[in-house]
Amino acid sequence: MTSVTRRAFVTGITGQDGSYLAEFLLSKGYEVHGLIRRSSSFNTQRIESIYQDPHLPHARMKLHFGDLCDSNSLSDLMRKVRPHEVYNLGAQSHVRVSFDMPIYTADTVAMGALRLLDAVREFQQESGQQVRFYQASSSEQYGKVMETPQKETTPFYPRSPYACAKMMAHWATVNYRESYNLHASCGILFNHESPRRGETFVTRKITRAVGRIKMGLQDKVFLGNLDSKRDWGFAGDYVKAMWMMLQQDKPDDYVISTGKTYSVREFCEMAFSHAGLDHKDFVAFDARYLRPAEVDLLLGDCSKAKAKLGWEPTTDIKGLVAMMVDHDMEAARREKTLRDAGHAVHNRASHD
Ligand code: NAP
Ligand code: GDD
Repeated sequence: MTSVTRRAFVTGITGQDGSYLAEFLLSKGYEVHGLIRRSSSFNTQRIESIYQDPHLPHARMKLHFGDLCDSNSLSDLMRKVRPHEVYNLGAQSHVRVSFDMPIYTADTVAMGALRLLDAVREFQQESGQQVRFYQASSSEQYGKVMETPQKETTPFYPRSPYACAKMMAHWATVNYRESYNLHASCGILFNHESPRRGETFVTRKITRAVGRIKMGLQDKVFLGNLDSKRDWGFAGDYVKAMWMMLQQDKPDDYVISTGKTYSVREFCEMAFSHAGLDHKDFVAFDARYLRPAEVDLLLGDCSKAKAKLGWEPTTDIKGLVAMMVDHDMEAARREKTLRDAGHAVHNRASHD
């Protein structure tokens, strides 16, 4: 008997989570189809190492142009790819930016999820093929938290345009599950980081600064609120949980977290001290990084995921900080070498 290759369709494949998820699914034997936005410059750096030329006979990773703001591209791709699993990770995912661009954020995050859900519903109905759907919900939805720790039954209280948009995407997913017999699950993921984290999120901004300060490429790092607390895990662990949710007989919603929380200040202390520096000498305040409404404390209780999925985080905060700082020290070292070499070439040229 020959087994059918499972096909996964991933939005947000060029992002932090998309790149880890694509690697994970390829390692499980999936054919991975990623949605990418047309851009005038390359936006595929995070998946370069796993990209395969689609013309190769056995290529198992394929990229398709499209956009969550364009329903037609999503419906067409459902028919073309015929996926067994769909992971909706695409989003304007920066909370601070969502205050500057609320309408665009709602369009990609809320309407984007609805457009994709509807394309999946339509394809499932037309083809009779069952599709499993994952929605990237967020701990940001707990906002001004109603209880601590936060679990699946904790009421939401969103505090940003991003979180409001994620609320709609979350409830649309639940509604499609209940209305159309769609195997649709929401992962309510707490903050997760990695060396691939976007450089304007606070952890990566800090670890990039540690590397560059250590190498003499930067003097200070300007941050906003150091008192807010987050439950930070490792992205590589969290994408496994997404897949596990779609392997269950029944769709459901799960909190994914570490169960530990630290302030931004504590993250600074740990990251700078890993490089032998004192954060107090290098962290400065800039009000531009404050938000009109802040989420003060996030701390997740992932007992349901532990019990039902058998999922547990493998990386603690110390391991995460070390992984990110070590990576960014190396990146800064390379940057310095290139800068010095450029300088040397420039000097030689001026002597030639
Ligand atoms: P990320 O690094 O910011 O990646 C976002 C991805 O979405 C990128 O691939 C981006 O493409 C794509 N995208 C943006 N707008 C799009 C559009 N209109 N159409 C199609 N694709 C679009 O985010 P992440 O950290 O990997 O997070 C993945 C998902 O989980 C997001 O939905 C995020 O909101 C959610 N989430 C993240 C966390 C976390 O702590 N990381 C926690 C909870 C939930 P480009 O490369 O072209 O920009
Ligand atoms: N980005 C940023 N930059 N945040 C700062 C800074 C700064 O210079 N200074 C202080 N902070 C504080 C923010 O005010 C916030 O309280 C905290 O650091 C974390 O900010 P981010 O790293 O931007 O993450 P986030 O918690 O707002 O959102 C992330 O996690 C959500 C899950 O809870 C994003 O990945 C969201 O997409 C995700 O849903």
